[in-house]
Amino acid sequence: MKTLVLCNQKGGVGKSAVATLLAHHLVHRGRRVLAIDLDHQANFTKPLRLSGKPTPSACTAEALLTGTPPAIPDKPFVLVPGDRALLGLERQPALHTPFARNVRAVLAAVDARFDVCVIDTNPNPDIRVIAAVASADFVLSPIQLNQEAMDGVSGLLNHDRVGLRKIKAVLNPKLALIGLLPTMVEPTPFQRANFTQVVRQYHALMIRIGDGPGAFASIPRRSCVAEAQAEGAVLWEMKKTAARDAWREIEPSLSRIADILTDVATATKRTEAADAAAT
Ligand SMILES: Nc1ncnc2c1ncn2[C@@H]1O[C@H](COP(=O)(O)OP(=O)(O)OP(=O)(O)O)[C@@H](O)[C@H]1O
Ligand SMILES: [Mg+2]
Repeated sequence: MKTLVLCNQKGGVGKSAVATLLAHHLVHRGRRVLAIDLDHQANFTKPLRLSGKPTPSACTAEALLTGTPPAIPDKPFVLVPGDRALLGLERQPALHTPFARNVRAVLAAVDARFDVCVIDTNPNPDIRVIAAVASADFVLSPIQLNQEAMDGVSGLLNHDRVGLRKIKAVLNPKLALIGLLPTMVEPTPFQRANFTQVVRQYHALMIRIGDGPGAFASIPRRSCVAEAQAEGAVLWEMKKTAARDAWREIEPSLSRIADILTDVATATKRTEAADAAAT
């Protein structure tokens, strides 16, 4: 099983929407998927639950950290839901090391039962994010194309508590950054200029989806993506032509990410590139 964490300390950048689309896409490709929602806002839990596709586990995500024996169903698509109990974990600093150890133990215990574990996180740099990233194989970081979000990329790499360089050096040497995924992209001159700037500044962290200039993974802003999240619909199963058109635009980016998840050689190269970019 490969574990992917959706992570960015900026709120509202599309982490949960990308996690949802990716989980459905991986299942559609025949992968066995464990979806874990570490955010008390539960914006990964709600659309998955409404879709009726995953089997919900009896335990919530909090139990994965606290070590209450989790009963993860033996099914090909399982959701471990997030709820407000997750908020209490940060207030127990003496237990943070066991919390991180418990997550690692749970993931190790289900390793043979799933192909991919997708973990959505909250935007605060707290023990939930640390525990997830400390056990993961990959991080994917959705970003929005505005100045603040772009400035936040340096924090993602260098934050003193949850920065990927620190976690990799101290807790999890196998961690690889899949890359930055611009989300809610709009065809405005402002966003185009910002896209160019991100590519120039963080070239090694962008996810290539082709040979051409500008052929990097990204997710366009489309109202049907927000509707799919709200209704629990699977984007490509929605009746509207707009939804199918949106999926056609999004699919190459998500397919590329799904491919990287199962290609270890590419992942190692990406880690080296991320290390070089972060220094
Ligand atoms: N590509 C998109 N097009 C249009 N709307 C989108 C898109 N991606 C996400 N949204 C909407 O934008 C809002 C924020 O997205 P989302 O919840 O995925 O962000 P997040 O990074 O998970 O936020 P948080 O940091 O609060 O967890 C939601 O209402 C979501 O439905
Ligand atoms: Mg979210």
